[in-house]
Amino acid sequence: MRLGLVSSKGGTGKTTSAVSIAMGLHRLGRTLAVDCDPQGSLMSWSEEAAEQGTPLPFTVVSMPTRDVHVRLARSVLARAPRADPP
Ligand SMILES: Nc1ncnc2c1ncn2[C@@H]1O[C@H](COP(=O)(O)OP(=O)(O)OP(=O)(O)O)[C@@H](O)[C@H]1O
Ligand SMILES: [Mg+2]
Repeated sequence: MRLGLVSSKGGTGKTTSAVSIAMGLHRLGRTLAVDCDPQGSLMSWSEEAAEQGTPLPFTVVSMPTRDVHVRLARSVLARAPRADPP
């Protein structure tokens, strides 16, 4: 499953929602959060959480590129084993 949180309007809770949703998904299975925002808030939050000794329980990577969908599809991440293949 892939979910995208997208809005051109700033400050509407995208990053906050992404963390909450990823927290929930992490409880169901392996979860990767991809920060596509050049501002890098999600990655910063992830770093700060780790520095405070409470790391986010899911993996966060930063990929602020327009073709992130292509890069992800070609990456080793797409070839990772799936817990529940079709
Ligand atoms: N459901 C909510 N209720 C109240 N405040 C919220 C809620 N979700 C987010 N906020 C607050 O709104 C502000 C903006 O949230 P957030 O950084 O997640 O938005 P964003 O859309 O990712 O912003 P940006 O466009 O800068 O990336 C933050 O101060 C956050 O704490
Ligand atoms: Mg944000």
